Amino acid sequence: MILQVKEVSKHFGGLKAVNNLSFTVADNSIWGVIGPNGAGKTTLFNCLTGTYQLTSGEILFNDESIAGLKPSKVAEKGLIRTFQGNKIFPGFTVYENVLMGADRRTPTKAWEEILGIKKAKKIEKEAHEKVMEILDFLELTAEKDFLGKNLSHGSQRRLAIATALASNPKLLLLDEPATGMNPEETADLMDHIRKINKMGITIVLIEHDMKLVMNICEKITVISFGEKIAEGSPKEIAQNKQVIEAYLGRGSQF
Ligand SMILES: Nc1ncnc2c1ncn2[C@@H]1O[C@H](COP(=O)(O)OP(=O)(O)OP(=O)(O)O)[C@@H](O)[C@H]1O
Ligand SMILES: [Mg+2]
Repeated sequence: MILQVKEVSKHFGGLKAVNNLSFTVADNSIWGVIGPNGAGKTTLFNCLTGTYQLTSGEILFNDESIAGLKPSKVAEKGLIRTFQGNKIFPGFTVYENVLMGADRRTPTKAWEEILGIKKAKKIEKEAHEKVMEILDFLELTAEKDFLGKNLSHGSQRRLAIATALASNPKLLLLDEPATGMNPEETADLMDHIRKINKMGITIVLIEHDMKLVMNICEKITVISFGEKIAEGSPKEIAQNKQVIEAYLGRGSQF
């Protein structure tokens, strides 16, 4: 199991945003997390990545405790997230955005001091090649020199994933990647998520687009008011009475 969430709670004063939540994610799976607005999904990601300190509970990543670690330490271990909304660097080019993901652990100046210029240049070249490969994979090569802010919504979303990929994730957390996408962009996204998973990267996906979730997730954890109310295959979840009542019944489309 790549990820074990054990009785995790995150309370804000009296608000139990995440409460006593447990679930485990199998290696190499695509795992869905769904639930109504305000259910605690993003808070859960913030707990997993070290952005929030837990009120209580334990998180194991590859059997090692990561609860209490700083976000940078969690990221170094290979647990990488994208943010809800378009969190890219709007004033930097597409290339620079992805390079920042790749360079997170290898600032050139520091490497030059430690290893000498020749070795540092080699690392720079490797980073460049990696960025170009990721841009190609996410069909962003033609927009490589565009400023982030000048991209279409769909491209901005792909750029966020490209930047996360550059940080060498073992587990990639995607927070509502399909928001605002048209059906064609969503179909492309689905394709990309499958391909990323085939590279050996486990994925946990928060999403309101039920068609996307039901199509690509092997298992789904449903949360409502911070607590797990169901877990199972897409088919089981789609038929679960409590889930339909708490979430799916409210006009969600399959
Ligand atoms: N830093 C914070 N301080 C206080 N309350 C917070 C904080 N972060 C989240 N919350 C509250 O926790 C609850 C869960 O919020 P969260 O953003 O995790 O929901 P969500 O499931 O991601 O919703 P959505 O589907 O709308 O993105 C909400 O009531 C929210 O207002
Ligand atoms: Mg959210």
